[in-house]
Amino acid sequence: MSDAATLHAQQVAYWNGPGVARWITHQARMDAGLMPVAEAAMALAAVQPGETVLDIGCGSGATSIALAGLVGGSGHVTGLDVSAPMIELARTRGAGIANLDWRQADAAAEEFPPGSADLLFSRFGVMFFGDPVGAFTNLRRALRPGGRLVFACWRPFNENPWMMLPLQAVQTLVSPLPRPGPEEPGPFAFGDPERVTRILTAAGFATPTFTRFDMAMQLGANLDEAAEQAAAFGAAGRALQDQPDAIQHAARAAIRAALAPHAKAGHVALPGAVWLVEALSA
Ligand SMILES: C[S@@+](CC[C@H](N)C(=O)[O-])C[C@H]1O[C@@H](n2cnc3c(N)ncnc32)[C@H](O)[C@@H]1O
Repeated sequence: MSDAATLHAQQVAYWNGPGVARWITHQARMDAGLMPVAEAAMALAAVQPGETVLDIGCGSGATSIALAGLVGGSGHVTGLDVSAPMIELARTRGAGIANLDWRQADAAAEEFPPGSADLLFSRFGVMFFGDPVGAFTNLRRALRPGGRLVFACWRPFNENPWMMLPLQAVQTLVSPLPRPGPEEPGPFAFGDPERVTRILTAAGFATPTFTRFDMAMQLGANLDEAAEQAAAFGAAGRALQDQPDAIQHAARAAIRAALAPHAKAGHVALPGAVWLVEALSA
């Protein structure tokens, strides 16, 4: 296993590398599919007017923009992300919103003004730290005493058919990339509540609560778009990333065939399984 610093550097490089183009291209579709998660996490966080919020790993900014609406003119939101292309898109989308700013920075290392935030929020942006205890210790310093951390993360891979089914469909065409180890960063790194509890309590948070959130993940507006989106993301997307056009083409056809039985009135939706995690600063 690589050391924590190497794993972290690999993640930072990934989120600033060519793979991010997929997030930019499919931003509107992903936001539509993931909107229910944002709404559920914000409801759990019970965001109040006037609050100061840090949106960690904010990506292209949809949740930061929504949070800025909830905190209102007397509140403030900072959308923070380590990815230059993502923050650039977020900046464009959020232009003109007075109570919102953007920062391109590594959440694990950034020096935040101590005690300045009421809420640390994230939708799928906190599973990529090489040293998660160190990163959450750093983030906790940004919280005021009694402030809260609320984030959404994926439950294990085998509970998420919207990612599993496309990978299964292309397995005869490409080999999947090796799965990260249980203590390594990645989209499913926080599937195990015991691990997350261990990390957060070691970082100085009180014992977290875990709420299951089950949804139908909408892929695209029709079967073709669904196949395109499924081929671009998750384990299938990563396995296909550097493949030649002929393989990409065959993979999309295989994914389309696998998704077809799940299309209802042209729309494809597959189960997605999420943890909503809440922890107070101890
Ligand atoms: C799966 S995407 C989620 C993006 C967004 N929150 C959303 O829900 O659409 C994960 C995001 O976390 C960001 N990220 C990964 N490691 C980070 C770090 N160390 N500091 C800040 N952001 C990070 C990535 O650049 C990426 O934008």
